[in-house]
Amino acid sequence: MKIKEKQFYALWELKMLDPRNLKEAKLRFEKKELIGSGSFGKVYLAHDLQLDAELVIKEIKKENLNKEKYFLEAQILYLGDHQYITPVHYACECEENIYIAMPYYKNGSLENKLSNEFISVREIINIGIQILSALHNLHSRNLLHFDVKPSNILIFNSNEVHLTDFGLAKHGDKSMYAAHTCGFLDHAPPEFFSEVESGVQHEIYQVGMTLYRMCIGEDAFQQQTKRMANEWSLHKEARETGSFPDFSKSIYPDHIPLRLKRIISHALEPDRMNRYFTALDMLNELCAIPDDLPMMLDWNYTVHANSKKIWSKRNLHGTISLTVEKNNNSCAMKSIANSQQRIRNYCKSDIKQFEIQKFLREH
Ligand SMILES: Nc1ncnc2c1ncn2[C@@H]1O[C@H](COP(=O)(O)OP(=O)(O)O)[C@@H](O)[C@H]1O
Ligand SMILES: [Mg+2]
Repeated sequence: MKIKEKQFYALWELKMLDPRNLKEAKLRFEKKELIGSGSFGKVYLAHDLQLDAELVIKEIKKENLNKEKYFLEAQILYLGDHQYITPVHYACECEENIYIAMPYYKNGSLENKLSNEFISVREIINIGIQILSALHNLHSRNLLHFDVKPSNILIFNSNEVHLTDFGLAKHGDKSMYAAHTCGFLDHAPPEFFSEVESGVQHEIYQVGMTLYRMCIGEDAFQQQTKRMANEWSLHKEARETGSFPDFSKSIYPDHIPLRLKRIISHALEPDRMNRYFTALDMLNELCAIPDDLPMMLDWNYTVHANSKKIWSKRNLHGTISLTVEKNNNSCAMKSIANSQQRIRNYCKSDIKQFEIQKFLREH
């Protein structure tokens, strides 16, 4: 009975296509370099021989997909068309693989960037706003991405990021729910472990986790997740006991504004009913931070091997910095023209956390 159904489907499909108009054409590209790989496929920098152009080809093994879903990833990416979503040039197939062609982002992913540095609060807010605006656009078209995380965010330029990798994306039903597929557990919300369907709040949680990760830094994030590896039961237990993510007082660096921490906590609420209702609600709250806290936005933060922390930034007059040693001895400096001056109130032994925060708020 099943086989007959399939035959009927194939016949219907053939009937719909007019063989006189159905064309097959040759497409050639040369793979240059493997730049990424995941569970479903590989991503190559390639040379398109027709266009004589450099682009990126995502190669997905057909054996990992149901036939009717061969082009789903490319189709949703195409439907999602938006300023902050990777554009798709074309999609095609050969015997074994599906190929999706897109532009090459030479700066790589946000994950690469976070592995080398902390980024400023201004950048964190901008990235959050852009990703939420991409998601708002997807949701308005009844689409769900389901895999928001730093490795799926590509750096377009110093002010702009694009959401990519629609490998787990789905069409939502009328209430914007869809069966979720097992993805990356570090960003999975608690309900993922007990329910088969999720919707917008799943993605709100994933954005919250992405912001959390940008704020606390990659080392602190990996320290929390490495003990769970990608083990389903360990992740489930950590969500049930509330041991992950860690919200203890010392987890955030001192330049992260309280308002941003509150937005992250709201997005990461264990009960999905308590999270932001829409991507737009969360986006609006992030937009309101910069006006409120102009001094906190541009600190450049580094942590050194001996736990020495340094905050620095450029302002209208020159540069300003605060160094705090492991034993809480601190030194604050400002440069005016070519001379360096100590800021005496903040060069002291045993500086307190509230004093560090006051300095970062007021300078
Ligand atoms: N267009 C691109 N330009 C540059 N790097 C890319 C591009 N697309 C993907 N990558 C890199 O390849 C990695 C895997 O790509 P992705 O589409 O996320 O595939 P997967 O489904 O395997 O996770 C990304 O995390 C990123 O580092
Ligand atoms: Mg990916």
